[in-house]
Amino acid sequence: MASMLQFFPILYLPFIFIYCTAFKSNLKPYIVYLGSSSNGNGGEDLSHLQLLSSLIPSEESDRISLLQSYSHAFKGFSAILTENEASRLSGYDKVVSVFPDPVLKLHTTRSWEFLEAVDDKFRSIHPSNEHKSSDIIIGVIDTGIWPESPSFSDEGIGKIPSKWKGVCMEGSNFKKSNCNRKLIGARFYNKNRKGSPRDNIGHGTHVASTAAGAPVDNASYYGLALGIARGGLPSARIASYQACLTDGCSGSVILKAIDDAIKDGVDIISISIGISSIMQSDFLNDPIAIGAFHAEQRGIMVVCSAGNDGPDPYSVVNTAPWIFTVSASTIDRNFQTTVVLGNNQSYEGTAINFSPLTHGKAYPLAFGEKVAASFTPAFDARNCIPGSIDPKKAAGKIIVCVNEDPNVSNRIKKLVVEDAKAKGLIIIDTEGQLLPFDSGTYPSAVIGESTGSRILSYINSTKKPTATILPTKVVPRFKPAPVVAPFSSRGPGGLTENILKPDIMAPGVAILAAIVPKIIPGYSPPGNKTSLFSIRSGTSMACPHVTGVVAFIKSKHPHWSSSITKSALMTTASVSNNLGKPLTNSSDYYANPHEAGVGEISPIRALDPGLVFETTVQDYLYFLCYFGYKPKILRSITNTNFSCPKISAEKFISNINYPTISIASLKKNEDIRKIKRVVTNVGSSNATYTSNVEAPPGLKVLVFPNRLNFSAGLKRAAFKIFFDGKEASKGYNYGAIKWFDGLHVVRVVFAVNVE
Ligand SMILES: *[C@@H]1O[C@H](CO)[C@@H](O)[C@H](O)[C@H]1NC(C)=O
Ligand SMILES: *[C@@H]1O[C@H](CO)[C@@H](O)[C@H](O)[C@H]1NC(C)=O
Ligand SMILES: *[C@@H]1O[C@H](CO)[C@@H](O)[C@H](O)[C@H]1NC(C)=O
Ligand SMILES: *[C@@H]1O[C@H](CO)[C@@H](O)[C@H](O)[C@H]1NC(C)=O
Ligand SMILES: *[C@@H]1O[C@H](CO)[C@@H](O)[C@H](O)[C@H]1NC(C)=O
Ligand SMILES: *[C@@H]1O[C@H](CO)[C@@H](O)[C@H](O)[C@H]1NC(C)=O
Ligand SMILES: *[C@@H]1O[C@H](CO)[C@@H](O)[C@H](O)[C@H]1NC(C)=O
Ligand SMILES: *[C@@H]1O[C@H](CO)[C@@H](O)[C@H](O)[C@H]1NC(C)=O
Ligand SMILES: *[C@@H]1O[C@H](CO)[C@@H](O)[C@H](O)[C@H]1NC(C)=O
Repeated sequence: MASMLQFFPILYLPFIFIYCTAFKSNLKPYIVYLGSSSNGNGGEDLSHLQLLSSLIPSEESDRISLLQSYSHAFKGFSAILTENEASRLSGYDKVVSVFPDPVLKLHTTRSWEFLEAVDDKFRSIHPSNEHKSSDIIIGVIDTGIWPESPSFSDEGIGKIPSKWKGVCMEGSNFKKSNCNRKLIGARFYNKNRKGSPRDNIGHGTHVASTAAGAPVDNASYYGLALGIARGGLPSARIASYQACLTDGCSGSVILKAIDDAIKDGVDIISISIGISSIMQSDFLNDPIAIGAFHAEQRGIMVVCSAGNDGPDPYSVVNTAPWIFTVSASTIDRNFQTTVVLGNNQSYEGTAINFSPLTHGKAYPLAFGEKVAASFTPAFDARNCIPGSIDPKKAAGKIIVCVNEDPNVSNRIKKLVVEDAKAKGLIIIDTEGQLLPFDSGTYPSAVIGESTGSRILSYINSTKKPTATILPTKVVPRFKPAPVVAPFSSRGPGGLTENILKPDIMAPGVAILAAIVPKIIPGYSPPGNKTSLFSIRSGTSMACPHVTGVVAFIKSKHPHWSSSITKSALMTTASVSNNLGKPLTNSSDYYANPHEAGVGEISPIRALDPGLVFETTVQDYLYFLCYFGYKPKILRSITNTNFSCPKISAEKFISNINYPTISIASLKKNEDIRKIKRVVTNVGSSNATYTSNVEAPPGLKVLVFPNRLNFSAGLKRAAFKIFFDGKEASKGYNYGAIKWFDGLHVVRVVFAVNVE
């Protein structure tokens, strides 16, 4: 599955001119991070250049130039350096970290690989008449924006908030007038002639419209998923920062975009981008983690996607505790594609296709291995591997393929059978049914294994098997939903297992949102105008759902800090599906917190969470102490006299006041482990909460005190949780502590690795 999800070819050196110099020696772009900005006024370029000239030999003075310079929320720059220069620089006193400028990837899947559904949950939050303006500004760091989309109309929206200090940059095919009271800002960083804030890929447009798109009536993907498309908070403003082009997203540019967004005055930053999970090395070598830290310092929440490298464990990225990390789920709509066999038996599959075939006419049906090219192994032909199908045998037929080779995506199978002049494609792939495969006008259906074996035995049972594939219909209220998307990256986090990641799950499969209207041959039904909306899947699509919900919560609770908002969402998330059963993964097993985080986001409940866990910048600094950073480094990233606690060990990370609890290692023979938390009451002042523990058999969990009475004017209360793993089974044990006051359930999820 993972290989199918790679869409954007990644070039490791994003700027052409770097190629030229790179051949000279081991020169490459580095990010040099210098910690907190002293005044926040900008204008550090001179001192950055001085630093460079102290390092670079004068005969190479052409290299004394800054690719990017950061000076608003934090200090630093990117420049072309040798490895030796980079390593010398990292020894300088004021330097926090120096690391090669990484190329990050968008957390989306191929646009046409999947199909849509509108998210009823978010629609139901907003009565359709609620479209007044809000002063909440969402910064979207992505591929830019297609400003003409109806999702960015500013009709009915009031004047631009006075706190906004950003710009609408002009560029190729992008004028100041492309911004409006909805799309209030747009920046780009590509300095060549074609540079422009304009989105030519579609990802940024999709993500921005999911977070804050204006309501658009009758939105659909060529008639499918027809309804009102709208963002999480349709009245919020959008500022677009283009950090990704077709060759990926340069880390130094993402960092610049975050610095700009903070300076411009955004309230929330949405980043559906991440470093590859195998390349994560450190929190302070990760441009998103660095930028997000400084955003959080200024009260700006950063919401990020968890990545699409699931279902392997340790694949989650963007795992710093100050980031809100989002995994992806399915929603309750199915894109049903019916296969009718010659015996009139019909079967429901999934796909998105605008098949021209009808019920009236059937076509010969054949299993891939029965139309194999000569000297081709049966395995290759039944998997429809390129070169394995004989056009002489397959032409005019509907071909059945299986999915035993993860390297051959549905899209490749489609190209293979289409190339062999086959009439259509049926793919047997139980898990693939969850991710509607978009085959455009080519007839296709993905069916489960039990249906598949029935179709294969039908083929066996008759001399002239035939079938037809009908165009897709959307089936609402599909059950079960939500289900963890198979591609969604899984915890535990590779950098530390003492913070539970991902945090929360949101819809990320088959999401309908605005797109760059482009004609893709073979994908739009003949006679239709190019669609303004499209269906995409990925944690990229889940992230802006959370961003939109955070904006919604902020609009109702303007004084809540980002950690209060995050806690409110995390302790109230939904843990059951629409069958009333516990959430599952795509193999129909209980979805554990390393797959689903605390569960599916539940915006309305989060408005009234009762108790919240406030995580302060000091907590995050303690986290970095426990993780192993020297106090000197932490003083530079905060510009304060900060000192680490006297005793420091990685296991103390579990004591950071986070809304979940994770213990990387609880030895069976160790004493009871004590974890501390402090809750803040944001509900009625006379509340009394009692605790209740859900733990797997063998793991002893005790909460003390088990009653919290806030009547005496108390705002905060501390409690301890004792974990005893002596009789627990080895490996991760998952459970939750629930505080209940008769009105609110405050659910604190834990994951404890017993060794
Ligand atoms: C668009 O939706 C409205 C209802 O919101 C409906 O009356 C109208 O017929 C729709 N238009 C089209 C072209 O489908
Ligand atoms: C596209 O065309 C199909 C049939 O040709 C029609 O049913 C559908 O409504 C059209 N969709 C749009 C968005 O034009
Ligand atoms: C299948 O159904 C159609 C009408 O729906 C009928 O005309 C045809 O004879 C049936 N074929 C068989 C094999 O039952
Ligand atoms: C898929 O590709 C990988 C690497 O290219 C290879 O190691 C693996 O064997 C392939 N899987 C199959 C089933 O061919
Ligand atoms: C179809 O028949 C072949 C032998 O002709 C057999 O190997 C295969 O298992 C049969 N498949 C099904 C699904 O009955
Ligand atoms: C679902 O969970 C089960 C049990 O934990 C696991 O064996 C399986 O691999 C998971 N499936 C996916 C797709 O993650
Ligand atoms: C830092 O510490 C010094 C001496 O301990 C003190 O004079 C100074 O005020 C402190 N600065 C801050 C920002 O706390
Ligand atoms: C707590 O106070 C609220 C008003 O703030 C009141 O409606 C409620 O009845 C009180 N509950 C108890 C148990 O006293
Ligand atoms: C909470 O404390 C108040 C006073 O401190 C007391 O009157 C009340 O009975 C307590 N409530 C519970 C449920 O213990």
